Amino acid sequence: MENKTINLGIFGFGVVGQGLYEVLNRTKGINARIKKICIKDPNKSRPIDSSYFTTDKNEILEDPTIDVVVELINDTEAAFEIVSTALRNGKAVVSASKRMIAENLPALYQLQAENKVPFLYEASSCASIPIIRNLEEYYDNDLLNAVEGICNGSTNYILTKIFEENLSFTTALQQAQDLGFAETDPTLDIEGYDPKFKIVILLLHAFGTFVKPEEVFNFGIHHLNDFDIQFAKQRNCTIKLIAQCRRQNGHVSSYVLPHLIKEHNLLYDVYNEYNGILLESAFTDKQFFVGKGAGGTATGSAVLSDISALVYNYRYEYKKIKQNNQPSFTNDVNLKVYLRYKTPDQVDLAEFFNISEKYESTEWRYVVGTINLQKLREAGWLKNKNVNLLVLE
Ligand SMILES: NC(=O)c1ccc[n+]([C@@H]2O[C@H](COP(=O)([O-])OP(=O)(O)OC[C@H]3O[C@@H](n4cnc5c(N)ncnc54)[C@H](OP(=O)(O)O)[C@@H]3O)[C@@H](O)[C@H]2O)c1
Repeated sequence: MENKTINLGIFGFGVVGQGLYEVLNRTKGINARIKKICIKDPNKSRPIDSSYFTTDKNEILEDPTIDVVVELINDTEAAFEIVSTALRNGKAVVSASKRMIAENLPALYQLQAENKVPFLYEASSCASIPIIRNLEEYYDNDLLNAVEGICNGSTNYILTKIFEENLSFTTALQQAQDLGFAETDPTLDIEGYDPKFKIVILLLHAFGTFVKPEEVFNFGIHHLNDFDIQFAKQRNCTIKLIAQCRRQNGHVSSYVLPHLIKEHNLLYDVYNEYNGILLESAFTDKQFFVGKGAGGTATGSAVLSDISALVYNYRYEYKKIKQNNQPSFTNDVNLKVYLRYKTPDQVDLAEFFNISEKYESTEWRYVVGTINLQKLREAGWLKNKNVNLLVLE
């Protein structure tokens, strides 16, 4: 595609679609033009000329002059249909849809190989942080031990407002939604599903292991209360929702859980809609990436960077898969946690060991102890809204 003008067919003109439009208009270095934008609702008013728009997906998918399909919609099933048809039709594809990608990674990997076309999705994980391309290109050996961090801009925004400005959970969530940081369905953010989709994608590029999202345990910040916030503050800590994957003894484990974060931790100072990713490897110890993890132009700039990479025939090589020494996935790891509850019948303390702290008051109780991640996945009692959990460093 070098030197020629790239014709783009875009699906979706919401937060990210409009962000891409703005970024594209302000970037002189790339020779790309939008030929068509497919949207869902023909009656919505649009900020740009109506001749751009269609509701017929085939005007893009069947147009031989369109080189790159950019998929930026909020409907997982329709997104997979669009992306797979585009790849089958021999078009390069760029997408930001982390859920669609995480749920279909093996099929999407296969489609790229069969049709010999690139599929890039940097914006799907941590929006503006170029983490996938770094995992692909720089960390192409087996010395990487862990990828962990804050992968969800909207929960980080909420937690920042709670800890820095003493806002209530509800007010902070509303602000995140108003600013376009929260997903259309906020439970995906606050219950930790959105960062789970991202860590599933990062895990594949870090370690070469395909993991289904349902195999990864996620528990978000939806049960957080003032007692937990005080617990953190008394220990000079903050709370961050952490997504992690870690290799140990030939296995890789992964989860999304709220963590108590001490001041010396690099993730402590990641505020608002920013994301932060810490990589741990054998010889470099820790390396830290930080950048905006949500929002129209921040995400749009990662989409544009993928479009630009296609000009130079870039594609993911999935080297870790090809190296053939992938760690197998396990949930058999132990975590030191704080468990807060109201009455003893609400939890199963028999699952805990090494209990080092116990607290009881008329209103709340907690223990600090160790539990196996697999037991946490099976613990129905975590669904009780009077029960909350924080991982301790
Ligand atoms: N927002 C962020 O900060 C962010 C960051 C990273 C990744 N993402 C991901 O990027 C994707 C888009 O997010 P968003 O925040 O831009 O969503 P959004 O603001 O809700 O916009 C969604 C767009 O998709 C269109 N759409 C829905 N179904 C469609 C279909 N079947 N065919 C054509 N168009 C369809 C909608 O059309 P109408 O306009 O007609 O309703 C709308 O323009 C999502 O997968 C999201 O997870 C978002």
